[in-house]
Amino acid sequence: MTAMSVLAIDQGTTGTTCLVIAKDGRVVGRAYREITQHYPAPGWVEHDAHEILERTLDAAREAMANAQQAGANAPVTIGITNQRETIVLWERATGRAVHRAIVWQDRRTAERCAALAPKAARIGELTGLVTDPYFSATKLEWLLAQGNNQARADAGELCAGTIDSWLVWHLTGGAVHVTDHTNASRTMLYDLHAKEWSAELCLEFNVPVQLLPTVVPSSGTVGRSTLATLGAELPIMGIAGDQQAALFGQGGWSAGDGKNTYGTGAFLLLNTGAHRPPSGSGLLTTIACDERGHPVYALEASIFIAGAAVQWLRDGLGIIAASAETEALAAGLSSNDEVYFVPALVGLGAPDWEPNARGTIVGLTRGTTRAHFARAALEAMAYATRDVLGDMREQGQVPFDRLRVDGGASGNNWLMQFQADVLGVPVDRPDMVETTALGAAGLAGLAAGVWQSGEEFLASRQFTRFTPTETGSASAALAYGGWRRAVRAALAWAR
Ligand code: G3P
Repeated sequence: MTAMSVLAIDQGTTGTTCLVIAKDGRVVGRAYREITQHYPAPGWVEHDAHEILERTLDAAREAMANAQQAGANAPVTIGITNQRETIVLWERATGRAVHRAIVWQDRRTAERCAALAPKAARIGELTGLVTDPYFSATKLEWLLAQGNNQARADAGELCAGTIDSWLVWHLTGGAVHVTDHTNASRTMLYDLHAKEWSAELCLEFNVPVQLLPTVVPSSGTVGRSTLATLGAELPIMGIAGDQQAALFGQGGWSAGDGKNTYGTGAFLLLNTGAHRPPSGSGLLTTIACDERGHPVYALEASIFIAGAAVQWLRDGLGIIAASAETEALAAGLSSNDEVYFVPALVGLGAPDWEPNARGTIVGLTRGTTRAHFARAALEAMAYATRDVLGDMREQGQVPFDRLRVDGGASGNNWLMQFQADVLGVPVDRPDMVETTALGAAGLAGLAAGVWQSGEEFLASRQFTRFTPTETGSASAALAYGGWRRAVRAALAWAR
C-alpha cells in the first residue's frame, strides 16, 4: 500500500493525460485519450468541448482504476492543468456548449487583431500580451457575434471560460465557475497589475463580466467532483495553465528559474518574481506561481509549433512512421546541408509575431532526403529557443545559465545535445518529463497536505545534463545564421 496520492488531469491540445501520482513521486496510475482536431477552414482550429469532457473523464476514471489495481490508495485531491487560451462558451442552465471550442492555434481573428493595432500598446500595458489571435479575447468576441449569443450573454444565460473552467464547471455538476490567475492572464481580458478582469478590455470586446469565471488562486480548494462525473467526491485543489504548471513541476518557484517545454509548441518561461518585468522583444508577461501557488510574474516566449512539426512529418507527409525515428535520422547526417524548416504552420509567435506566416522549407537539392526534413524539424525547435533566450535573460534581469527542459520531444537525446550546443548553456532534463501533470499534482497536493513543502514534493527528482561541446557549439553558431535567413524568407513571404 502506498501513501496519499493525487489525481493530475492534463488536458492538452492533442489529448488528455491523467496520472495518479503518489507522495513518493511515483506514477501509480495512468491513462490517455486523444481528442479530435477540427479544421473547418484554413487557419481555423476547433475542439469539441463535450468530447474533451468525456475523454477527460474516461482517462481520469481509468487512471484511478489502474492505481487501485496496483494497490495504491485512492487520490485525496485533483489538480487540473490545461491547454491555455482555448475558449468555450456554454449555457448556464444546461452546460451545453453553444459552439465548438476555438483553439489557441486558431487564426480567424487575425484581421480583427490587425485593426486593433492603435490600441496594442494599451492592451500590452494592461495584459502583458501582444495583440494576436492566439489569446482568448478576440475568439470570445467572435463567438459572441454568432447568432443570438451576445444577447444571451448580456442576459446572463451563458458562461465562458478556458478549458480549466469548462472542466471544473462540469466536474462540480455546474456548481463552480472559476479559473485561476495563470489561465486568466492568457485571455487578454485580465489586468496583470490589478490581478482581476479588466473592465476596459471587457468593454472593448463586448464581454459582460458576469460571463467570465471568478479568478481564484492556483492552489486551494475550489469545489468537489461529483459521483456522477468521476465516481468519487474529491476536492479540486489545483488549477494552472499547462506551461505554468510545467514551470511549477520543475520547481520554478523563484525569480531566475526557467524552463522550456517541447510539446505541440515550445514554451519558454522565466519566473521574474514579484516585480513585473519590462515588456518588448516579442516576449509576453504572464502570471506564474510561487511555491505556495500564489501569483508571481514571468516572461514567456510562445513558440507555436515544436513537436507538432514532427507530427506533421508523420501524419501530414507520412515520411516517418513514429516521432522517435527523427533521433536516428538526424544523427545519421553529419550536417543539415543547409536545409532549414521554419514550421510556421499556424503563423509565427515569439519573437516575430506574424499570424500570416506559413511553413517554409529552404535549401532543397536533389540530394535532400527525409532525414534532412527530420533534422530540420528538430533543429527548428532549438533555433527558435535561441531566438528568445538572450532577450529573456536581458529583460528578466536575472541570470539564466542553464535550461531546464520537459515535454515529449525533450526525450530526444540528439535534440537536447543540439539545444545545449546552440545555446551554449547546459540543458537539464528531469527523469520525469511529464512535468505539466506533475505541476498540477504539486499545486493540489501541497494544498491538501500530501506534501508539506515544495522541497518534499520534488525530493525524488533527478536530472540528466547535456553540456555544450566546443565543436558542436561552433558548428551550431554557423548554422544559426542560416536559420535566421530562413525566418526572414518566411516573414518576407507573409508580408
Ligand atoms: O498556450 C498554448 C499551450 O498551453 C498549449 O500547450 O502542451 O497543449 O501544446 P500544449
